[in-house]
Amino acid sequence: MSTTADEQKTVARTRTAGERGDHPALTNGGIEDDPDLRARELEQQMTDDERFSLVISIFGYIPGSAVGPRDPRLPPDLKNMSAGYTPGVPRLGIPPIQSSDASMGITNPGYRPEDEGATAYPSLISLGSSFNPEVVRQGGEAIAREARSRGFNVQLAGGCNLARDPRNGRNFEYFSEDPYLSAVLAAAQVNGIQSQGVVSTLKHFTLNCNETNRHWLDAIIDPAAHRESDLLTFQIAIERSRPGSIMTSYNKINGEYAGGNGPLLNGVLKNAWGYEGYVMSDWGATPDWEFALRGLDQESGVQADRLLWGKEPFTEDLRAAYLDGRLPRERLSDMVRRILRSLLAVGADRWGPAPAVDEAWHNAIALEGARQGIVLLENDGVLPIPADEPLKIALIGGYAQQGVVSGTGSGAVAPLGGFAAMIRIGGAGVMGKHRNLYLLPPSPLQALKEQFPRAEIDFDPGYTPAEAALTARRSDLAIVFAIRVEGEGYDLPDLSLPWGQDAVIEAVAAANPNTLVVLQTGNPVTMPWRDRVRAIVQAWYPGQAGAQAIAEVLSGKVNPSGRTPITWPKSLADTPRPELPGLGTPWGTPVAIEYHEGAEIGYRWHAKQGTSPLYAFGHGLSYTRFDYRDFDAVGGDTITASFTVTNTGDRAGADVPQVYLTAAPREPRMRLLGFSRVALEPGESRHVTLTADPRLLARFDGSRQQWRIDAGDHEVMLGRAADAPVERAVVELNGRYFGV
Ligand code: BGC
Repeated sequence: MSTTADEQKTVARTRTAGERGDHPALTNGGIEDDPDLRARELEQQMTDDERFSLVISIFGYIPGSAVGPRDPRLPPDLKNMSAGYTPGVPRLGIPPIQSSDASMGITNPGYRPEDEGATAYPSLISLGSSFNPEVVRQGGEAIAREARSRGFNVQLAGGCNLARDPRNGRNFEYFSEDPYLSAVLAAAQVNGIQSQGVVSTLKHFTLNCNETNRHWLDAIIDPAAHRESDLLTFQIAIERSRPGSIMTSYNKINGEYAGGNGPLLNGVLKNAWGYEGYVMSDWGATPDWEFALRGLDQESGVQADRLLWGKEPFTEDLRAAYLDGRLPRERLSDMVRRILRSLLAVGADRWGPAPAVDEAWHNAIALEGARQGIVLLENDGVLPIPADEPLKIALIGGYAQQGVVSGTGSGAVAPLGGFAAMIRIGGAGVMGKHRNLYLLPPSPLQALKEQFPRAEIDFDPGYTPAEAALTARRSDLAIVFAIRVEGEGYDLPDLSLPWGQDAVIEAVAAANPNTLVVLQTGNPVTMPWRDRVRAIVQAWYPGQAGAQAIAEVLSGKVNPSGRTPITWPKSLADTPRPELPGLGTPWGTPVAIEYHEGAEIGYRWHAKQGTSPLYAFGHGLSYTRFDYRDFDAVGGDTITASFTVTNTGDRAGADVPQVYLTAAPREPRMRLLGFSRVALEPGESRHVTLTADPRLLARFDGSRQQWRIDAGDHEVMLGRAADAPVERAVVELNGRYFGV
């Protein structure tokens, strides 16, 4: 739905010309007049060697990395190592392509000491909780400025896989379980990045929804349901942001590797949707040159393929196929033109001087994202904690004396000045050495001391339940920080907290009736202690400004406004796959996961099964109250809903009213149709109008390869969350086929 009430709080600051960038593409809004024509002209002038050099990227050198010694194809004077390096063609003004991870800031692969770090922005699930495209777009701009300052012109951002499974170790790198919310936010990030002259990806195309043996994972799904869910996310995000590149996923989809999946890449992405950018593989996901025939345009990080599959298919086999005619000349030209087009379209060939990076401003953007991403799950009135009283506060566990937690893997950002601490965890497979507890400074302890200057704060590490209880007992209030390390390469076996933290929380709650819990996890957790604590705050992985944001929410300086973008099931029994196939099998074991829930993910699954979750998608509390009135819904070709939201409490705050389809003519069907983040002063009202993307009201008809809306009555609901309706209406929709 489109938002008319544009109450999107962002970080205001006047930018200097240098920060805006001053190359021609950026002065006309980042759009090259005719990138297709120029790409065609340039490609025609290239030699075959130049063409072949463009269709691979070389992994940067990381001392000690599994991919081996420094690759001789990396120029000796290459300054910043990156995930991928592709030589340019200087005689034609084509710059080298340097790609960097990822969606939460500029990473430093291998944590090389000469890299001074970058701004560590909040995790995407945290930004997903903001329901605020504007805060995401602004973060994208900031990430791109930092990328440009290091010479990176492709940002491997735009993670938009759907959170189908709360065990997926990478959900923190994705926005949500909902296709529309994910698409809107991913597009905002891509638009922010590309506005600065940097190409962005959307990734991982598609169904990289579990990490278990991901290189050997076959994701099975009904093709029509795929179009209504994961593919719809990409489709809407592509339409809204025209990303220069799409990164394919590691897994297979219905038996074919994503990077070589002809029906999806050639069929859906390029032919049906007319995608004009280039398709890159994930690192180590190109076992075969024939992927080029099925839609893959660039093999990424070729040494990773050598490691996994024993060869670099686009270096050796692709040339051989070209020479003997199995790879048509026109296809090679198309691969090259697509890559060039994406660079030209954002102006990556016409960079001016590198933008100055204002660290304080970027920290302010990270802070605003963290604030808006914190979800107040429970509060019986204990929050906010008065900031000006001489309270004795027990702060327990979670390494809260050192820093906040980061997710792990290729997307983890080392902050300026380095991590506060790093504790090795390890695990099977190539990601084992990256699976660590990374703590970002400053610490919650320090931030709480600043926020509660009159309080006496005792830190207890939560080492044992008994010891933690001693500190809690002599305090007015106990705040337990509970954490879990999640990341790339690993699914969680269950939703519990590790390291005996549940027992610590139980003991603290028994010792002090005023106990509250702050969670830093990348996914929902189970909470056996839920009824014995007075408040629960989900901070996700909040990034480098997270400690301040958490302290401000606890004190009420910031009124929490986050809404969970993923359903919290009461137990795994209430999810589509109580048992996760392949979990626990050795790295390298082929596994098939049937996503039999189709498009009925998360809140939709719960609605279909009639089960109630622990916390529904869209749930999040505030320190003020919001009322809805004047609800109206109009049918026809789509649904337009309007209503007035009023802040009836005594504090300023932001609400996220949500409109859902709850039933179609022949079936109950739950779909988020639209949302709007509305910031209101006490007593203030705002009228909001939302119009649904008709695909959210439709089924995908596989036989016609079109969307179909059934004529008849559709039920629509205005609510505070997927399980919290406030108003309902029935509207009639015209039956029709449309789109592709
Ligand atoms: C990840 C990608 C990432 C790439 C490059 C892979 O392991 O799946 O998301 O962009 O590495 O570092």
